[in-house]
Amino acid sequence: MSEVTIVQLTDTHIRPTGERVHGMVDTYANLTHVLQQLRASRQRIDALVLSGDLTDTGSPEAYRRLRGAVEPVAEELGATTVYVMGNHDERTAFATELLGADPAAVDPDTTHDQVVDVAGLRVIALDSTTPRRHDGRLEEQQLDWLAEQLREPAPRGTLLVLHHPPIPSPVAATEYLRLERPELLAEVLADSDVGLIICGHNHLTGAAALAGIPVWIGPALAYRIDTIAPSGRHRGLIGFGYSRIDLLGSTLVATAIEATPAETLYDRPEQDVLDQLAALAAEAG
Ligand SMILES: [Fe+2]
Ligand SMILES: [Fe+2]
Repeated sequence: MSEVTIVQLTDTHIRPTGERVHGMVDTYANLTHVLQQLRASRQRIDALVLSGDLTDTGSPEAYRRLRGAVEPVAEELGATTVYVMGNHDERTAFATELLGADPAAVDPDTTHDQVVDVAGLRVIALDSTTPRRHDGRLEEQQLDWLAEQLREPAPRGTLLVLHHPPIPSPVAATEYLRLERPELLAEVLADSDVGLIICGHNHLTGAAALAGIPVWIGPALAYRIDTIAPSGRHRGLIGFGYSRIDLLGSTLVATAIEATPAETLYDRPEQDVLDQLAALAAEAG
């Protein structure tokens, strides 16, 4: 039984009403499909973490659409919502439309870093963006702030969230837009209570490690990159997904959820399956 369950929605790329991403993808429909799936699951979900590229072009209307879709569902689920900046986001609209900040008080050159307690699990979100750039970086003061936060361990450990994965990519365009100098982050994380790092940005599902800590790149909600495209080609494909992050015992586990509509192969009571497995195990001795 999961002690803490977090749903990671990344790269929602919401656009104003009537607009589609790459002229084809209705990203708002993808998002509402997934939110409906979460409601229908009736599973306990403690937090929704939106790990960047929340909108496609940073338009205030797109942030309002996102918030209007996400917040009623989060409220119904009793889930905390954590919004994280991505390179397609715009800091002023992000802060005013999602966080209710006063536009006059927003400095677009200041990063949005945050720490949120989710049932004893500490969620730290870093803003890895720089205005007008698509690659990622963490400023010295952010790393100092992170080190300060991590000085004391949290009751159930820490989940770190940042949009740009701090690991290399086999996809050339993705590698070009990587996080600069991930070794600086590795230095801060060494010997900390961070159990998992979750990211988005790459529009693919992948994993590696940084300072011995697993790094999870969650599938995007907008569309996906073809990770074995013909040599010399860069291809986007229709299809989307998201992730669940569960604290099981003392282990943070990341699991991809395919959301592209698929036909049901079977749908049985869970207890029947467990009983059948137990019978097979007993038979095998
Ligand atoms: Fe993205
Ligand atoms: Fe991105």
